[in-house]
Amino acid sequence: MRRNILVFFGSPRKWGNCAKALNILLKDFRGIFSFNIIDAYKKAAKPCDGCDICKKFGKCKYSDLDVAYSLLKSIPNVITISPIYNLSFPAPLKAIFDRFQLYFNLRAKDSIIKKKVILILSCGRKMNKTHISVVVTQAYFIFKSINADIKKIIIIDNTDKIKAFDNN
Ligand SMILES: Cc1cc2nc3c(=O)[nH]c(=O)nc-3n(C[C@H](O)[C@H](O)[C@H](O)COP(=O)(O)O)c2cc1C
Repeated sequence: MRRNILVFFGSPRKWGNCAKALNILLKDFRGIFSFNIIDAYKKAAKPCDGCDICKKFGKCKYSDLDVAYSLLKSIPNVITISPIYNLSFPAPLKAIFDRFQLYFNLRAKDSIIKKKVILILSCGRKMNKTHISVVVTQAYFIFKSINADIKKIIIIDNTDKIKAFDNN
């Protein structure tokens, strides 16, 4: 049986660097894994507005991420593929990540299966530790709230000059 992988995809560009990385995964591993892709720009999730309703009722007042919440509960393997925008995640993906606040508020991260995350980041600049550490620190806290540890970080850098996977 193919194992489930939950993918958070953060790029708006169909033919961009992240799309190429995702396509390689889909092509090479489709027989082994079953990919559940949450495309942040297509999903256009409502941003968390800090209403704290989840604290009272145990669920978010918005239903647009119900499928994502249910996948999060049951799938132990997560891949996040995203460009870096201003040392962070693009706004639509950040909106999804902020909605993990539900689990932080409920202190209910243990109700979600323990997860491993692979983080694939694409950035225009040449890789630089200070630069990358800002987004990685955010990712660390974001994923902690859903009971997930980052196991591997892959940086596709310098894309302003060299497009990713140009040789493929
Ligand atoms: C709004 C915006 C902000 C960006 N901010 C950064 C940044 O902080 N650091 C960086 O190295 N590249 C930055 N970039 C460049 C992208 O991260 C880079 O082009 C990336 O490879 C795009 O991935 P994609 O082709 O999958 O969309 C930014 C691009 C945009 C459009």
